[in-house]
Amino acid sequence: MPKLCVIPGDGIGLEVVPAAVSVLELVIPGLEVIQAQAGWGCFQRNGVSVLPETLTAIRECGAALFGAVSSPSKKVEGYRSAILTLRQSLDLYANIRPVRSLPGVSPRSDIDMIIVRENTEGLYAGLETLENGRATATRVITRAATLRIAEQAVSILRNLHRKKISIVHKANVLPLTDGLFRDTVREVIAQHQREGLQMETDEILLDLAALKMLSAPEKYDVIVTTNLFGDILSDAAAYWCGGMGLAPSINLGDGVALAEPVHGSAPDIAGKGIANPIAAILSAALLVHYAWNLPDIAHQIENAVEKTLASFVETGKMASLNQLSTNQMLEEIILRL
Ligand code: IPM
Ligand code: MN
Repeated sequence: MPKLCVIPGDGIGLEVVPAAVSVLELVIPGLEVIQAQAGWGCFQRNGVSVLPETLTAIRECGAALFGAVSSPSKKVEGYRSAILTLRQSLDLYANIRPVRSLPGVSPRSDIDMIIVRENTEGLYAGLETLENGRATATRVITRAATLRIAEQAVSILRNLHRKKISIVHKANVLPLTDGLFRDTVREVIAQHQREGLQMETDEILLDLAALKMLSAPEKYDVIVTTNLFGDILSDAAAYWCGGMGLAPSINLGDGVALAEPVHGSAPDIAGKGIANPIAAILSAALLVHYAWNLPDIAHQIENAVEKTLASFVETGKMASLNQLSTNQMLEEIILRL
């Protein structure tokens, strides 16, 4: 029986995560759920943004649903973003961010891409210094981390019957780091092609990739890229599924997965019971798919969300979408599960 570690975190995480958990409990009867703490509230209570027992619980379950965390606006001694700590401590090396058109909320109906973002190194290596008016950040790209993110992109292509992998990099300016990234991904792809896997590939410089994200997003299928580039491109891509409020994601490691809506803790609306739970529910579906390997059940959840939005379009209720409470939206989705 699957086990789930639930980490609502801060702000609207406390509202959307329980909604997503109740969807999971309906489609996976008997699901075992363990609650754990992380985030700014956790830091204020315990002096650390992620409790050691939270890490243990996630490892034990192999699957976690994370909500959102607030961060202090000024640097606070000893505080480090909970999500970065979780990604690093659990070696969650791949951040999978699918962006698909959703009825009524997407500006277009033909978008279906998956961004595969390296999640442990690049400019997120945490190597910053400031000395005598000179600040530097070290951008780390290793062959080992690139090999595994490339393998992840290829297995997503294979398992989801995708056709094309686009490598996004900036090797014209960063020939050593991004040259290593590009060449290593190429090597992995070529190996799989030799073994008979059919796929198209292309390579796009980051700046052009950003333009294409605006001008021809339907051309993207699977994108594989480094940490910060993936961070930026995936926010831009989220526009096509209806904005950050609707974008799901999952962080994958070996034997451990942590799903999280891409949106933040939204302090402006937190506590009001009006946060849209769709991104959290779609993130839960990713967990069902990637962590528990139950694609049919994942599709059941995704279809329920799509049918709900489509019914709002049909009945002219789209305009009132933002007036729905978290629970009303949840009920609408559960009706269609
Ligand atoms: C994301 C977020 C995080 C990141 C922040 C909150 C540290 O923007 O998940 O994309 O930069 O990775
Ligand atoms: Mn981001």
